[in-house]
Amino acid sequence: MARPDVVRLLETETISEALSRLRCEQIGERIVYFYVTDASGRLAGVVPTRRLILSDPSTPVGEVMIHPAVEPCYDWEGAGNRMAQKPHLEFSPVDMGSGWETPPGYKEGFQQKILASDLDEKAKRGSRSRLLRIGPGVYSEKPFVHDHWEEVYLVEGDLIVGNDERGHGGTQFHAPTYACRPPGVHHGPFKSEKGCVLFEIHYYRNDE
Ligand SMILES: [Fe+2]
Repeated sequence: MARPDVVRLLETETISEALSRLRCEQIGERIVYFYVTDASGRLAGVVPTRRLILSDPSTPVGEVMIHPAVEPCYDWEGAGNRMAQKPHLEFSPVDMGSGWETPPGYKEGFQQKILASDLDEKAKRGSRSRLLRIGPGVYSEKPFVHDHWEEVYLVEGDLIVGNDERGHGGTQFHAPTYACRPPGVHHGPFKSEKGCVLFEIHYYRNDE
């Protein structure tokens, strides 16, 4: 079984102290969130990796921690057992100006911003919600295929489906439009003429 990439921070330590401590510990390769506990070991919240790295090192972890955990009475052992769950996120402004990255296997100009994820593509479980944006004139050259379900909602802009390897042809859709794909379905290539933003949910169904 894969080692769970769970890393605990203390609410009362500073980011600088936390990072110094983490350098001495063996941590996993895939960390999305750091779990924060209070002095008694109770789960108090989470800190996204990006926020941990970019915040002032003298800031206490408790100040950059976001979104109280779903079950604040959970102790650390319980949190470890349930680390695969997404955090509880309430409405807050989505920063559209940062947090974007080109997903593995995509061309530059395709960028995702992950909103919440416990998707485990090796273990074939969990789900991921993300925004995907395609820059103006950007296109993929090959169809996509994956083994999880996918639902896609075009939030804004235009999306061309089925263009060729040079970005020609295909069928253009404008927001709002929606797709729901079972695993194994080839889809695309995709292009956007003027740019677009998609909201996507990827998930495995354990009853299949
Ligand atoms: Fe897809």
